[in-house]
Amino acid sequence: MIYGEPCSTVVFVEGLMVGHKTFINLHCSGARVILACRDMGRANRAADEVRKRSGNGNVIVKMLDLASLQSVRALAKDVQQAEERLDILINNAGIMMCPQWKTEDGFEMQFGVNHLGHFLLTNLLLDLLKKSAPSRVVNVSSLAHETGKINFDDINLEKNYDAHTSYRQSKLANVLFTRELAVRLKGTEVTTNALHPGVIHTELGRHLLPSLPLWKRLLFLPLFFFVKTPWQGAQTTIYCAVNESLQNTSGLYYSDCAPKEAAPQGRDDAAARRLWDLSASMVGLA
Ligand SMILES: NC(=O)c1ccc[n+]([C@@H]2O[C@H](COP(=O)([O-])OP(=O)(O)OC[C@H]3O[C@@H](n4cnc5c(N)ncnc54)[C@H](OP(=O)(O)O)[C@@H]3O)[C@@H](O)[C@H]2O)c1
Repeated sequence: MIYGEPCSTVVFVEGLMVGHKTFINLHCSGARVILACRDMGRANRAADEVRKRSGNGNVIVKMLDLASLQSVRALAKDVQQAEERLDILINNAGIMMCPQWKTEDGFEMQFGVNHLGHFLLTNLLLDLLKKSAPSRVVNVSSLAHETGKINFDDINLEKNYDAHTSYRQSKLANVLFTRELAVRLKGTEVTTNALHPGVIHTELGRHLLPSLPLWKRLLFLPLFFFVKTPWQGAQTTIYCAVNESLQNTSGLYYSDCAPKEAAPQGRDDAAARRLWDLSASMVGLA
């Protein structure tokens, strides 16, 4: 595959603010892009905007709820059956600092959506990615992984739920997943990298901000002058997805379109393998 050629197929697991900016960029480059998302109304509106701005009608919207393993399996089956090839998979969607919610399958929501859903989807699409090699998997993590810890003894944080701890755990899981996936994909020409997109003005804080007292919310106000726009926030994802110089680079972590050393706990190979095994058993992968 030559990135940006019309033959490229990209599955984009959405985030409609940053996500559809990424999507517009990729689509403008001539790729066929599948936007996988749970809110079909918003997704269709985003797809319409992309069609208008790019002048290319090759935009597909498919239903995906990462909080449901059944939904993840249904999307993977649909893509496997409908698509001849898959060149880039972008695992972008995420939820931050929600209350102690559970996924349909009983997993803690942030770990379930931010890690397990992407983990299962990626694994189910690996054969298609390998068939389409060279191909790429891009995992959107966060700087928050730096203070994260995988609570192997209480992965769903049932004993002591804390919304921050949970988000950090899930974003560390993205980095460790990328690391172990790169090892397992050696020699296949399928590469994978994780990234921090920057601090971006999106809807990610929707659960955090309403829970804060007014004075704390006011403290956040000056920050809005320094955060990235969704367009700027999409750039590192696009870089990892299509930049030619990354053709043979795998298992790394990026920030501001450059490699960055992940935190020590994100470079722990034993933890990465342990997390892989635990995740595989949780989602029912052999
Ligand atoms: N914004 C930042 O400053 C920042 C910093 C570091 C990392 N990140 C990472 O960047 C990624 C994108 O976040 P964002 O900032 O663009 O936030 P956002 O505007 O809230 O986008 C997140 C998207 O994920 C989707 N999503 C949530 N739960 C889902 C589920 N169960 N199934 C399918 N989709 C689901 C949401 O869909 P709905 O619209 O249907 O709710 C939303 O469109 C996340 O992985 C986040 O951790 C963001």
